[in-house]
Amino acid sequence: MSMPARQANGLTRYTKGAIILHWLVALGIIILIVIGLVMDHLQLNPMRLFQLYQLHKSIGITVMFLIVLRIIWRITHKPPELPASVPPFDRLIAHLAQLGLYGLQIFMPLTGWAMVSVSVLGIPTVLYGTVHWPDLPVLATLPNKAPVEAALKVAHHWGGWILTALILVHAAAALFHHYVLRDNVLRQMLPAFGRKATQQGD
Ligand code: HEM
Ligand code: HEM
Repeated sequence: MSMPARQANGLTRYTKGAIILHWLVALGIIILIVIGLVMDHLQLNPMRLFQLYQLHKSIGITVMFLIVLRIIWRITHKPPELPASVPPFDRLIAHLAQLGLYGLQIFMPLTGWAMVSVSVLGIPTVLYGTVHWPDLPVLATLPNKAPVEAALKVAHHWGGWILTALILVHAAAALFHHYVLRDNVLRQMLPAFGRKATQQGD
């Protein structure tokens, strides 16, 4: 397997690890948003609802670990450049959207974890029906949990909607680059499938 191509100024495409992490996290987050909406809006029987909450929490904590790996990748690598043809304003929007995505990828699991830690119902979090996940310290022992839980719920709810909007903009931009501008932006984030990685310079 060829090494990712490098230019003098850095990568010309994302590394294999970054690509795997991007798509695993993307899939995980989309599933979390769908489960979140189902939990909140469908009238399910209590047992089903309980299972769905546990599944949401399990995937949410898993994604949190993957995001930590992504952030480590990001700190230790310089991502590939956008093509020279991308105007400054579009670059700015892309960077702001990616910054927002990173921010919400941290914000969502933490508010979720905090919310269940401070829950007045005190339901334990059991990942995939096997691993007992601890509550965050301090929060679990607060004397007046209800207002903190309510505030975290609002934060998680609106964070979810802002994240959904950003994902739609981000994915639409990627598809626009691929199908309309016909540049390499999406391809940089797709597996090479045997193509020579070195062809991907812009
Ligand atoms: C990237 C990670 C996550 C995303 C994108 C996400 C997304 C969502 C969404 C969209 C909702 C529905 C919100 C609503 O309609 O009000 C929701 C609800 C919820 N999430 Fe998450 N979540 C994530 C991680 C977590 C984690 C790690 C936990 C707990 C360990 C968690 C616990 C909950 C709970 C308890 C609810 C129900 C809140 C309520 O009763 O209104 N989430 N989540
Ligand atoms: C669902 C369809 C998605 C598509 C088509 C897509 C596509 C892409 C592409 C093409 C890039 C590379 C952009 C560049 O070269 O500058 C990228 C980067 C990125 N994507 Fe996505 N993505 C999707 C979903 C997501 C989701 C759900 C998230 C997280 C919530 C996400 C977070 C990011 C981040 C943070 C980067 C920047 C990576 C870096 O340079 O550090 N993406 N995405």
